[in-house]
Amino acid sequence: MKIISVWNPKGGQAKSLISINLAAAACELGLKPLVVCEDPQGTSTKYHNAGNLPFEVIPGIPKDKPDADIVIIDHPASDWDLPPANTVIMPTKADRPDISTYQDALAVIKPSGKRVIPVVTDGNMQRQAQVRAVKGMRQAGAFELKSSGVYSRAGEEYRTIFDPEMNTAYKVNDRRAEFEAILSAVLNMQAQDDDSMRKVA
Ligand SMILES: Nc1ncnc2c1ncn2[C@@H]1O[C@H](COP(=O)(O)OP(=O)(O)OP(=O)(O)O)[C@@H](O)[C@H]1O
Ligand SMILES: [Mg+2]
Repeated sequence: MKIISVWNPKGGQAKSLISINLAAAACELGLKPLVVCEDPQGTSTKYHNAGNLPFEVIPGIPKDKPDADIVIIDHPASDWDLPPANTVIMPTKADRPDISTYQDALAVIKPSGKRVIPVVTDGNMQRQAQVRAVKGMRQAGAFELKSSGVYSRAGEEYRTIFDPEMNTAYKVNDRRAEFEAILSAVLNMQAQDDDSMRKVA
């Protein structure tokens, strides 16, 4: 079982968007994801309560090992504690204050040796400063979620972008492919873990 934290102490950086859409991408692969909504005002819980998600969302880390292939923890804003998972997805938007908080948060996580999967999201390509920020993040190995109206369209009905109702949305397959790439990175890290465990054994 793989556990991932989606973490950035700054609000509005797409932690919840990534948590639920990454879980939906895992469902597409036949995996059983579980989203843990650590946010008391939880966005992912609201999605779950609307009844359109093909996976469970629970309010806190369960005491017993859950029946899931991949557990995705959707962290709240203002949470500066080191996240519990060894693999941490860190999303950031491309505005200067966003990147600045992202770097502060990265400094908190670096000494722990946890693996970080950076994601730059919602970059405004009409603004040179954001174009540069996205490029910088990409050069540093970040995945990109391009700015798209599909998220607000899906969100109106509390759906993920993988929901069949979204099949006709503009460029939805490009947006889905961005999530599939992030999921592959997560699953490859698991494969590397298994491999190094075998080598140690
Ligand atoms: N690539 C994108 N295209 C369009 N909108 C985006 C994109 N990425 C993020 N957003 C928007 O940014 C907003 C914040 O996203 P979300 O609620 O997932 O952030 P969060 O980090 O979970 O916030 P909080 O810290 O409050 O829990 C949402 O309206 C979301 O749709
Ligand atoms: Mg959230």
